[in-house]
Amino acid sequence: MKILVTGGTGYIGSHTVVELQNAGFDVVIVDALFNSQKEVVDHIAAITGKVPEFEAFDLTDNKKTADFFKRHSDLTGVIHFAAHKAVGESVQHPIKYYRNNLVSLMNILEEMNTHGIQHLVFSSSCTVYGQADRLPVSESAPIKKAESPYGNTKQIAEEIITDTVHVSKLNAIALRYFNPIGAHESGLIGELPNGVPDNLLPYITQTAYGIREQLKVFGDDYNTPDGTPIRDYIHVVDLAKAHVKAIQRMVQGQMKQAFEVFNLGTGNGYSVLEVIKAFEKATGIKINYKIVGRREGDIEQIWADPSYSNRELGWKAERSLDEMVASAWKWEQHYRQ
Ligand code: UD1
Repeated sequence: MKILVTGGTGYIGSHTVVELQNAGFDVVIVDALFNSQKEVVDHIAAITGKVPEFEAFDLTDNKKTADFFKRHSDLTGVIHFAAHKAVGESVQHPIKYYRNNLVSLMNILEEMNTHGIQHLVFSSSCTVYGQADRLPVSESAPIKKAESPYGNTKQIAEEIITDTVHVSKLNAIALRYFNPIGAHESGLIGELPNGVPDNLLPYITQTAYGIREQLKVFGDDYNTPDGTPIRDYIHVVDLAKAHVKAIQRMVQGQMKQAFEVFNLGTGNGYSVLEVIKAFEKATGIKINYKIVGRREGDIEQIWADPSYSNRELGWKAERSLDEMVASAWKWEQHYRQ
């Protein structure tokens, strides 16, 4: 069985390709390489002993997308990661985000329909819940108004999929990620942000490596035990494994509805200061940090109720925060050397 992984050279995509190949699937990657490198394909091959097929083009190009699907009409399913993901940039360049994240999805859905490809796994985000009223957050929590164009593309994409599923044979699973961090144990693939990182873990590892002078902790006046915001950090390898479970669920006809949604988190919340302490303990390196003002658009605290995913997908996040930060550090060192 062959799976198309869009965005397969990106952070979560590359880890998912590894897990799919390890589980016996063939993979074809499509990635425009906007925010990743072609060498990732070699690194995936080094880990799994199997070279995934790879094509570099932009899925917002409907002609190229149609041509690709004509040549790959034997696909079993699609896992769609390819998207822009920088929250701040999406506020500055909303059209870039809406066009890229939504046109690519619509092109893929049209081609899947044309070629009778039934199974779609979509990368969604816990950002759709905003600041949830009740914690932990289950899949039935209300969707809040998006804080950014990026977040809005995830909400609109879920709606586009819902409407398409109603009128076609498409089956879809949206996986709502909490905060993926860490890297493959080999140190060969990991998160590689363009320029100055926005996200916490790459900022920590780059500060530890001496690329950044000081980490800014955005606010310690939140209503949390140590005043810093709380998130549900999840190891990217655990996250990747959930995609394999989702595809298997679809292929084996185990879905309860034609469109299902699952939270991917550990169920544990950690504050920014707890993550810094875990990193310092795991690596023996002190992080130079300073408390500054809050970052606009940040929510106070969120963590998942993963019980539905645990039960229905037969999946559970297994790796600890210590393993997450240690693997992120191993990756940063490997990459820089
Ligand atoms: C953000 C997005 C989320 C997106 C994800 C991946 C929001 C509300 N959420 O998650 O939709 O899917 O990025 O790109 O924008 N922090 C610092 N200093 C830093 C960086 C971060 O203190 O230099 C803190 C933040 O205030 C936050 C925590 O670390 O409390 C995690 O931040 P980050 O890694 O950026 O993820 P989110 O903001 O949770």
